[in-house]
Amino acid sequence: MTDSLDPEAVGRHLKGRFGKPYLYEPECESTQTLLLEGDYPEGAAAATDHQTAGRGRLGRHWVEAPGTSVLVSVVFHPPAERRPQELSLVAGIAAAEAVEGATGLTAQVKWPNDVMLNRRKVAGVLAEMRGHVVVVGIGINVNQTRPQLPADAKVPAGSLRTIVGATHDRAALLGSLLYRLERLYDGWRHGGLADIYTELGPRDFLRGRQVSVDGVSGVAVAIDRDGRLLVDAGHGAVTAVESGDVQYVR
Ligand code: BTN
Repeated sequence: MTDSLDPEAVGRHLKGRFGKPYLYEPECESTQTLLLEGDYPEGAAAATDHQTAGRGRLGRHWVEAPGTSVLVSVVFHPPAERRPQELSLVAGIAAAEAVEGATGLTAQVKWPNDVMLNRRKVAGVLAEMRGHVVVVGIGINVNQTRPQLPADAKVPAGSLRTIVGATHDRAALLGSLLYRLERLYDGWRHGGLADIYTELGPRDFLRGRQVSVDGVSGVAVAIDRDGRLLVDAGHGAVTAVESGDVQYVR
């Protein structure tokens, strides 16, 4: 691929507040680091075409072939009355919507931070805090071929290309992602997850699936308005799980 996420390519797709300022490096360790080390306003975004030390949740690595992905981090200054960990879900919905806009297929959010398309993980979200600032990183697998994707991932990986059979314009996808993220964030800022629940509930990938998470096994019933996963262990015993790594039955 010869396309790029440089400011010239992305600038014409930036329609709102988010992405201003827009920091770009052709290659960097991690877009998270670019923003966590600075003092940036809300909506500031950092993007790259390749990360040499991309970070995933729970200390994992996020690895991609150069020029194949959307790799972006965004700065948030959430109000004190909101639970900052919910921003992972807000970003997951935004990524799912952007993927849907690009592919015409329905994408789902796998609690707490994955985006699924055709039962494959096509995007992941990482939220990191520094004081009251939250930096949310989003990685979307866009134009990878099958051999360029991890073969041994716990959640099977896909890219928009492997699933749809066509390449996609990464700069346009990033612009759409930032616009949707801004709109959803404004809703969440105003009224929490309840305000954007109509975009989340129907996209819940785990709903109705047998899951095991944080020592609890049962059927995932829903994500509640506080961003917790409700798991029915049987006999009406429903547990609200705050966070964790979910094992699920496909
Ligand atoms: C996960 O699924 O574990 C989360 C992956 C998050 C990856 C993105 S890519 C942009 C940003 N920079 C990083 O180093 N990580 C996030």
